[in-house]
Amino acid sequence: MPARILIVDDDPVIQKLLTLTLKQTGFELFTANNGAAALAYVDDVKPDLIIVDVEMPEMNGYDLVRKLRQKTATANLPLMMLTSHDTVQEKIKGFEAGADDYMSKPFEPPELQARVRVLLRRAAAPVPEAKQISGKVIAVFSLRGGVGVSTLAANLAASFGQIWGCSTGLIDLVFASGQSALMLNLPLRKTWADLAPVPLADLDGELVEKALLPHASGTFVLAAPNRPEQGELLTSEKVTRVINVLKERYHYLVLDLPHDFSATTLASLDLADEIILVLAPELASLHAAACALDVFDTLNYPRRAIRLVLNWTFERRGLARKEIEDALQRLIEVVIPFVPDAFVLAINRGTPPVLDVPPTPLGALFEDFAYYLSKAEHQQTPPPTPTPTWQRVAARLQQRQQKRT
Ligand SMILES: Nc1ncnc2c1ncn2[C@@H]1O[C@H](COP(=O)(O)OP(=O)(O)O)[C@@H](O)[C@H]1O
Ligand SMILES: [Mg+2]
Repeated sequence: MPARILIVDDDPVIQKLLTLTLKQTGFELFTANNGAAALAYVDDVKPDLIIVDVEMPEMNGYDLVRKLRQKTATANLPLMMLTSHDTVQEKIKGFEAGADDYMSKPFEPPELQARVRVLLRRAAAPVPEAKQISGKVIAVFSLRGGVGVSTLAANLAASFGQIWGCSTGLIDLVFASGQSALMLNLPLRKTWADLAPVPLADLDGELVEKALLPHASGTFVLAAPNRPEQGELLTSEKVTRVINVLKERYHYLVLDLPHDFSATTLASLDLADEIILVLAPELASLHAAACALDVFDTLNYPRRAIRLVLNWTFERRGLARKEIEDALQRLIEVVIPFVPDAFVLAINRGTPPVLDVPPTPLGALFEDFAYYLSKAEHQQTPPPTPTPTWQRVAARLQQRQQKRT
């Protein structure tokens, strides 16, 4: 059955434009001219998703979204807001009212279609049940700051969700100044601070899950506290407990780690199935990577579980890949090029490059790396309903294999 989408907009031209764009994708469309009509109409239409214009007479879009969230029938429905002002304040207002995603006018039809598909897929994904899953934990780490740890963590987390169509956890362990939520444009309604005062024994899956911020890509973020002192109550025992509890609920957990070997960092690294060690092509970063590798050896972490990523956070005159590999006696597995605009734009918009529509070469790099890090059981059997991202990754993989033969 095609998904049913209700459009609420007072402008007949926009109504028509949205209807045409989404009909092309095979959805069934319904329209309402204002908030009151929409509220009366939802019980008949039973939509799978609602698109709400912000500026409407009488009841504006924020008020309508708030009211929809209070109704049982629409409390958990995907809601997208549509506005002509593309400011961060407006976005935050929309998310706080309860919207799941946000599109500005004028919109690009393919982007709208893609976002609607993502929202619908996330809503249709079965809620993970406790004890069913054994999630793969991927820690992203560097002893030196500013080398792209948080950037890589956010892009990897979003990639897993897009490739496998499953929910993914992104856990920000940078308690002093974490930015994972910011990278995905999520207001800090809930953070680690909500879990800090809870006694260890009470930290169960249901409670921990309530502290996560959902993102339209299928990524669920456990954000760093608003204020650094709130992180002080977070012991390594609590961190271990939270990661273990979430492992049972998410196929992939990506840890954005601080640049230190604090007790909570070590507890997190201990739980990681793989550690991505990030470095930039300069001496201080190389030194930090060598120190980290020494510590990993001392801790008896298996070498094959540690993967080196070289990230060009600056433009030129960096150390050569070979020089770094020789110095560290290890191979670099992935090189991220210097792409200034993509990352600055990404942070301003709150969408990691891997979610860009249309897809970019940079996004492809993150997708391919996430695929490479995916669980063997996932890689071995193609998904029953492959996502567009999985199809892209598989096509590139095939191309590379053909080139080799
Ligand atoms: N390949 C790259 N090209 C250009 N800028 C980058 C690249 N990787 C990261 N950056 C930028 O470098 C800064 C630091 O990245 P971030 O992920 O916050 O690092 P960390 O978490 O290691 O401190 C950010 O402003 C980010 O946008
Ligand atoms: Mg960071």
